[in-house]
Amino acid sequence: MSTLIQLQDVTFQYDEGGQSAIENLSLTISAKEWIAVLGRNGSGKSTFGRLLNGLLPPTSGAVIINGLSTTDEKEIWNIRKTVGMVFQNPDHQFVATTVRDDLAFGLENLGLTRDVMQVRIDRYAHLIGISHLLDAEPYRLSGGQKQRVAIAGVMAMEPEVLIFDESTSMLDPVGRKEVLDTLKRLHQRGITIISITHDMDEAVLADRVIIFDKGRIIKDAHPIDVFQAPDLLRQVGLTLPFSVQLQNELRDKGIRLENVCLTEEELISELWISYSAK
Ligand SMILES: Nc1ncnc2c1ncn2[C@@H]1O[C@H](COP(=O)(O)OP(=O)(O)O)[C@@H](O)[C@H]1O
Ligand SMILES: [Mg+2]
Repeated sequence: MSTLIQLQDVTFQYDEGGQSAIENLSLTISAKEWIAVLGRNGSGKSTFGRLLNGLLPPTSGAVIINGLSTTDEKEIWNIRKTVGMVFQNPDHQFVATTVRDDLAFGLENLGLTRDVMQVRIDRYAHLIGISHLLDAEPYRLSGGQKQRVAIAGVMAMEPEVLIFDESTSMLDPVGRKEVLDTLKRLHQRGITIISITHDMDEAVLADRVIIFDKGRIIKDAHPIDVFQAPDLLRQVGLTLPFSVQLQNELRDKGIRLENVCLTEEELISELWISYSAK
């Protein structure tokens, strides 16, 4: 797979000479990966996200996106176009009185003609499943709908990478599921996804889990490896995914399964296979 993002010994300090929010971080991310970023509050996750799309320049080291350094000022617009970001609170992102106008406003800087803009808006509204909301007033939407509009707005810029910074944390279970289904669909379309999350049942869906602690990466592995190490998770204040918790409780009651199951579906099928024949 081709390298899309590269961090070379990156350190970031908000205050000169102060504590490092990110410290000596080196990392490579390939195109089409789905990465879940975990870690307790203040561990540097949002700073990491802002470094990736050039909102913050590294204090030392380099952040390279598609071969371009984020400190190269003439490329910053290219980089922002390549790496889109969706934030925690969708309300902060609305500026217009209808969803369609809001999406158009976001595209204005791209220098597209009005017709091309409308085609794009329709295409991404359809992809994200919000076509029926285009004439609605943003403030009337549910939390999940608002977040999907925000995602459509970022998608319409046609980025290669989408960063989600706790984008489902303010949503109810229905809204969360809507956004998760959207993530799955974007991943299938080959978008690289970096999702900062506290939701372990979301993290199990990723190809790769990265855990931050005090501005450093303390684990970078497949979800199976990560969720088999409960001590490490506990150490950084994280819980196990529901299905792994349940599996541990079953084990304590003498019901052993051969494989670690990260989702409810896997767990049900494993229980079925192990116990239906007996
Ligand atoms: N705008 C800021 N100014 C100064 N310090 C900040 C700012 N934003 C974050 N920090 C500090 O940087 C560290 C990492 O924060 P952050 O990246 O927001 O962590 P997380 O997203 O994991 O909660 C924390 O110690 C936090 O207090
Ligand atoms: Mg954060």
